[in-house]
Amino acid sequence: MPTLTINGQSHNVDVEPNTPLLWALRENVGLTGTKYGCGIAQCGACTVHLDGVAVRSCSTPVSAAVGKQITTIEGLAVNGALSKVQKAWLDLDVPQCGYCQSGMIMAVTALLREKPKPTDAEINGAITNICRCGTYQQIRAAIHAAASA
Ligand code: FES
Ligand code: FES
Repeated sequence: MPTLTINGQSHNVDVEPNTPLLWALRENVGLTGTKYGCGIAQCGACTVHLDGVAVRSCSTPVSAAVGKQITTIEGLAVNGALSKVQKAWLDLDVPQCGYCQSGMIMAVTALLREKPKPTDAEINGAITNICRCGTYQQIRAAIHAAASA
């Protein structure tokens, strides 16, 4: 049975090694903040971090996550203190329906770790997640706000 380290805790998950990580997170561990959108690595709703790098968990097998630090949206706040990205999202009221937003926040958090002050072109290149509510302008503003925090 694969063992996954998720948000700092070990979990044995009773799944096949080629099971998408998304399903192990949601169905086996009960972390439902990570969403299913397309299932084919296009929308980004399922974005989590493996060793700090954003990946699309619908298309990442559990076997690829074994031995890595997995972080989900539930693990971003530390001792109840929201991350600067989460705070910027709240301050700017980014979400509409909210469905895409945990994936957005995870993708943006990984971007800011790599590029603390991204340009608009770098944001465009890195954040390819889809928001059906069209919150892109607010997302861009929140990224710049978080980068300046
Ligand atoms: S559900 Fe994974 S990219 Fe859309
Ligand atoms: S806020 Fe609704 S899909 Fe992005």
